[in-house]
Amino acid sequence: METQEPPQVQPARRRVVEILLGGGLLASIVSFLYPVLRYLVPPPVPDLGGDEVVACKTGELKSNGSKIFRFGNRPALLLLTAEGEYRALSATCTHLSCTVQYRNDLHQIWCACHNGMYDLNGRNIAGPPPRPLEVFQVHVRGDEVVVSRKRGA
Ligand code: FES
Repeated sequence: METQEPPQVQPARRRVVEILLGGGLLASIVSFLYPVLRYLVPPPVPDLGGDEVVACKTGELKSNGSKIFRFGNRPALLLLTAEGEYRALSATCTHLSCTVQYRNDLHQIWCACHNGMYDLNGRNIAGPPPRPLEVFQVHVRGDEVVVSRKRGA
């Protein structure tokens, strides 16, 4: 009596299938892990601006007006009070980091996310913000309004 042997699969073809399946599995694992790793270890964000930036030209802002400008890698708020005084503050809310804005009808700084309020000195006066806004120095140099960090801040 003869025994029948199972048909032989060609070893080369089997090897190619194994490589393709293994490569697909590896690619799937990497595609799941890469976003998680990028979230856990974010890339370094360069501080582009340093400690001084030209926020605008004189005459650009109307009385009781404001603008958001980039200060380093964060937004900042420059405003010209009704009395003609420039003020510059961080525009990042101290609650959950939304960008604040100047409410010229209230003469206050407002965060729309959770109705947080700051006065023109950056003090948190209403709503959930736990700390004041960082206040910057403002100098008028020629026709430029220059904003800089306070020394020791
Ligand atoms: S993020 Fe500004 S009040 Fe919540």
